[in-house]
Amino acid sequence: MLGLETSCDETAAALVRADGVVVAERVRSQLAEHAPFGGVVPEIAARAHVEALDHLIAQVMAEAGTGFGQLKGVAATTGPGLIGGLMVGAVTGKAIALAHRLPFWAINHLEGHVLTPRLVAPAPFPYLVLLVSGGHCQLVLAEEVGRYRRLGTTIDDAVGEAFDKVAKLLGLGYPGGPALERLASAGDPARFALPRPLLGRPGCHFSFSGLKTAVLHLARAQTGSAETWQADLAAGFQAAVAETLVDRTRRAVVLARDMAPGLDRLVVAGGVAANATVRARLADLAAAEGLTFSAPPLRWCGDNAAMIAWAALERARAGFAPDSLEAPVRARWPLDPAAEPAIGAGIKA
Ligand code: KG4
Ligand code: ZN
Repeated sequence: MLGLETSCDETAAALVRADGVVVAERVRSQLAEHAPFGGVVPEIAARAHVEALDHLIAQVMAEAGTGFGQLKGVAATTGPGLIGGLMVGAVTGKAIALAHRLPFWAINHLEGHVLTPRLVAPAPFPYLVLLVSGGHCQLVLAEEVGRYRRLGTTIDDAVGEAFDKVAKLLGLGYPGGPALERLASAGDPARFALPRPLLGRPGCHFSFSGLKTAVLHLARAQTGSAETWQADLAAGFQAAVAETLVDRTRRAVVLARDMAPGLDRLVVAGGVAANATVRARLADLAAAEGLTFSAPPLRWCGDNAAMIAWAALERARAGFAPDSLEAPVRARWPLDPAAEPAIGAGIKA
């Protein structure tokens, strides 16, 4: 299966075998293009996908020593994401499928993330996924292929977005998550009192804008040189985020156990899963709840095409039909069609 991923700021192509062997994969990050603007610029992203995608496909095909005619299918992310980028991947995938008479699979990007643990190792359903990246912040109960229940989502920022915004106001550049984590490692997380948004509140939605604003006010109130307070503020922010993620996830475990009594696994995925404090706190939670904890390797936590090819293979094996070449791209595409919208504006799909 050839997989293509172009929904945000990574252009990726991968060839994955039905048994889960990733034969070849390439990911090209657009960080350099977007860094001067402090965030992803959709028009720049779409153009960069156009320039890169053909080359990445040619590279994985050459590395695998295979031709399009030998493929079983082509899968492309068709949502949710930035519409220009999605169109690049979808049109490219459809063109290959049409020219070589291959089945085309229109894949939901979130399904790719949610099924990734099964690409890494056997992970029987049901399991609970905390998906934390620059674009997503969701708790999803994976019941079986094609059946996902979204238990929580963010009512404002995604958690990676909050890391990036706080890093920016501390002058750390983009993407801010890794830089903020480095700075925090030298800081005292207890020095500044920061809010834990929604802590202890019912349900398992997330909110990070109040925490971000609290960091902004504290930063503005500091008078000493940056060395005397920045690391402490970064550490305080990171601790507040980790505690919030754990609180929301603990609630989701209770809900998920009601819906799926056999639940025995907690998975974290997405770019923020790279954060050692977040990982450690979630591992503690899993241990306390008697759940197996798994985190995919970092290259498959972030956006990649192996997860897209894998999702198509999983769908094929589960008996789903391939998609039509008319399949649309969708900026918003909830994984769980029955999910209630969270309150507030700017809700992610
Ligand atoms: O999954 P990803 O590579 O791309 C998407 O957003 O889809 O996630 C990138 C996000 C960025 O917001 C970045 O700042 C955050 O993940 N991130 C981190 C760390 N590494 C990446 N956040 C906190 N700590 C990190 N070590
Ligand atoms: Zn993603």
